[in-house]
Amino acid sequence: MKDHYGRKINYMRISITDLCNLRCVYCMPEEGIEKHPHQKNLSFEEILELIKAGVSLGVNKIRLTGGEPLVRHGIVDLVRQIGEIPGIEDLTMTTNGILLPKYAKDLKAAGLNRVNISLDTFDPVKFNEITRWGHLEDVFAGIAAAKAVGMHPIKINTVLIKDFNDNEIETFVNYTRDEAVYVRFIELMPLGESSGFAENKYLSNDEVLKRMPALTPLLMPDKTGPAEYYQLPGAKGRVGLINPISKHFCSECNRIRVTTDGKIKPCLHSDYEIDLVALHQSGMTYQEILLQAINEKPEKHHINEDEKQLLRNMNEIGG
Ligand code: GTP
Ligand code: 5AD
Ligand code: SF4
Repeated sequence: MKDHYGRKINYMRISITDLCNLRCVYCMPEEGIEKHPHQKNLSFEEILELIKAGVSLGVNKIRLTGGEPLVRHGIVDLVRQIGEIPGIEDLTMTTNGILLPKYAKDLKAAGLNRVNISLDTFDPVKFNEITRWGHLEDVFAGIAAAKAVGMHPIKINTVLIKDFNDNEIETFVNYTRDEAVYVRFIELMPLGESSGFAENKYLSNDEVLKRMPALTPLLMPDKTGPAEYYQLPGAKGRVGLINPISKHFCSECNRIRVTTDGKIKPCLHSDYEIDLVALHQSGMTYQEILLQAINEKPEKHHINEDEKQLLRNMNEIGG
């Protein structure tokens, strides 16, 4: 279905837990998140009904996010049940990869097509610092597990952080020479309690092109998301740039987001939310609630102009 600005909305991103087995400094506070007493995760039944309503309105791509989606109990069953809904062409997940050695095989068999894996550094000490306690080798074990079960393409999400990993741009780009993965640099966004961290650590993705002039733009007629893709000559993989800050891509936005506690977010960079559970209890169908959310999608975000800190942390929205 199309929104007021003619954008076709076919992509639903659902955060299925705000818990995580890491604590990336730009995403959530070290102590985790304290739940308000009335806050409750959407149940599997609610998630499935919501997806069915989405499909009836033209959604054909589902991404499960978190927190870390693989820490939600019963995740493989959830994937299987979503995979059985007719009309879903792409079922994917964004994960930190740590639990993939345990789950990749079952997830693939249950119908998960592919995964996007977060990785901000190749240095084990820096990895431990940015995630507050993670071990780098666990992520590489996760990447290997996803590859071994035939998930393709594997996309690596790298948040570009000034004075932290900008000295690794070349290493990340070179990783795509021999590995058939997509490395995507994401501009750091100020969200929630971690906004302070982003204040003086933002770096435009133009920096990647400046440092790696051999990267050649790829024409992608089948472009389905915000990433712009490039490639090194002869490389097996690709390099993507996701530029929400330096060049916002709102005019191409095809998505609607659902938070862990059942709020629909028409826009990532707005605090405006629609309470799915309350509206459903008051008699609206999921389809009617989704229609309202799509109709209320703003034309664009104002993150560059607004001074006000956004309320939600990334771990409740899922990126
Ligand atoms: P693909 O379908 O594999 O291209 O995935 P994706 O890029 O939609 O999903 P992923 O979760 O890997 O997104 C990567 C990150 O890019 C997100 O977590 C966000 O940080 C950022 N991003 C993705 N979509 C948007 C968007 O609509 N707006 C903004 N501001 N950032 C986005
Ligand atoms: N800015 C940009 N990207 C972020 N992510 C999490 N927080 C931020 C932020 N503040 C990324 C993660 C993950 C995806 C879900 O979003 O690295 O890949
Ligand atoms: Fe869409 Fe909001 Fe993202 Fe812009 S910031 S592309 S309007 S979700």
